[in-house]
Amino acid sequence: MAAFSTRLRYGAVAQFLHWATAILVVAAFVYGPGGSEQQVYSLAKDFDRQLHETLGLGVFAMALIRLAWRAFDAAPDDPPMPPWMRLSSKAVHAMLYILLLAVPLTAISGAWLEGHPLTLLGNVRIGPLLTEAHAVGSAIASIHTWLGDTILWVAGVHAAAALYHHFVLRDGVLRSMLPG
Ligand code: HEM
Ligand code: HEM
Repeated sequence: MAAFSTRLRYGAVAQFLHWATAILVVAAFVYGPGGSEQQVYSLAKDFDRQLHETLGLGVFAMALIRLAWRAFDAAPDDPPMPPWMRLSSKAVHAMLYILLLAVPLTAISGAWLEGHPLTLLGNVRIGPLLTEAHAVGSAIASIHTWLGDTILWVAGVHAAAALYHHFVLRDGVLRSMLPG
């Protein structure tokens, strides 16, 4: 399978980045550390939080790589569809890209402003690289949890649309993102 996309389908690199991102987003969501700030940063939650932050930073890295890759590798042409459908598909993709960046950025800035380092698997600690402003950090951290839920809802609508294209409209949209 070609690394670059053609006018009909996504190339291997874009497909790998898409599906790896999707898996990482769902896994990060599943391991979201819930509860009060004390609970989130307690020893009991160390593993879940480290796993969540590591997966989440993976999402951030994949999104940056995907956006850079798009500069060299344009997306395939859309199949014929009404203008409202093309517009809503572009709007959902743009929203997903914004969330793929905003979810990790609110997490990182929220944790640092609260005075916590990022804590990754293997006991890697990064920061805090911002001056503590606890109230602002807490507010941003709660925006993070809200955006974390939102990305799952938007991705759910996006996945349902892909299945609708495949099973109802029977066009090549879903196949363009599948290998083979
Ligand atoms: C796409 C990636 C991510 C998703 C979908 C996501 C989702 C979530 C969700 C849904 C929660 C709330 C969990 C609950 O209330 O049960 C949460 C909490 C949290 N996330 Fe993320 N997250 C992501 C990335 C990150 C990253 C990159 C970091 C840090 C580097 C991070 C750090 C945290 C922390 C510290 C909390 C607890 C916040 C608090 O209540 O103080 N997350 N995340
Ligand atoms: C968290 C999960 C997901 C995220 C964050 C996500 C994100 C994205 C983004 C940003 C694009 C635009 C790609 C580009 O052209 O640059 C895209 C395209 C696509 N995604 Fe997803 N996706 C997710 C899950 C899924 C699932 C579960 C399916 C299938 C059931 C799916 C099917 C597709 C298809 C078919 C395209 C190509 C659409 C087109 O070119 O019009 N995605 N996805």
